[in-house]
Amino acid sequence: MASWRLITIAAQFACECGDWAAICRASHGSGCGGCGERLVIVVQSGLMSGDVTRWSSNAGRWAGSYDDRWAQLIAQGDNIHGEADFVESLRLAAPMTVLDAGCGTGRVAIELARRGLTVVGVDLDAAMLQQARDKAPHLEWIHGDVVDVDLGRRFNVVVLAGNVMIFLAPGTEAAAVANMASHLEPGGVLVAGFQLRAGGLDLADYDRYAAQCGLTFAGRWATWDRQPFVGGSYAVSVHRLASPA
Ligand SMILES: C[S@@+](CC[C@H](N)C(=O)[O-])C[C@H]1O[C@@H](n2cnc3c(N)ncnc32)[C@H](O)[C@@H]1O
Repeated sequence: MASWRLITIAAQFACECGDWAAICRASHGSGCGGCGERLVIVVQSGLMSGDVTRWSSNAGRWAGSYDDRWAQLIAQGDNIHGEADFVESLRLAAPMTVLDAGCGTGRVAIELARRGLTVVGVDLDAAMLQQARDKAPHLEWIHGDVVDVDLGRRFNVVVLAGNVMIFLAPGTEAAAVANMASHLEPGGVLVAGFQLRAGGLDLADYDRYAAQCGLTFAGRWATWDRQPFVGGSYAVSVHRLASPA
């Protein structure tokens, strides 16, 4: 996408693991409280091209240290694989095929592969993706944009973990959902976990984007371990592509 847009000037607290601070605590539990001590202010402003994501505008800061945060959480005894647990539990096929969309450094994809699932990771950030490749050269990593990448195949699950939906380039959310839906097998599910914050992507819009491309709402939780969603600041949403009758 070549167009340029003026993005909103914004300053926001973020934590070292790349999730916005509030959701970091909500999605990773109390074990991530350390992030509260390491908050920084991320300022986004100025002109941004359509193919620059909210993530890439901060990429220099995140790529080198993204995995450090997960390593710290592991050292604290936290489970950093809630997303993998969730995806594995869907048991839609054997073996189940998963597209880790916005895979970053491969945290989710590598764990799913370790558990025997067939995974492909796609990400637009070359530095993040290189770390994934370095850690798991035997897996398939694609440098691409979830908005328009065409992998030429379909998956039982497409998972957008780690707030990918709110790191997309502004205005590309519906196209990303549609393109990821086009990579689903009939009966497959689109799974996305992202923070809900004022002025950000809301669930009504997300559900509408999913419905526009033929997906049916299949469930929503507050956490990856399926705590009930009662209107909090984070949601894990599942939408299904219908199976043929
Ligand atoms: C917070 S990281 C999450 C990484 C990984 N899913 C995880 O949970 O550890 C967000 C990722 O979304 C990716 N991303 C944002 N917009 C994207 C796009 N349009 N296409 C592909 N990846 C994108 C970023 O490059 C970044 O790696």
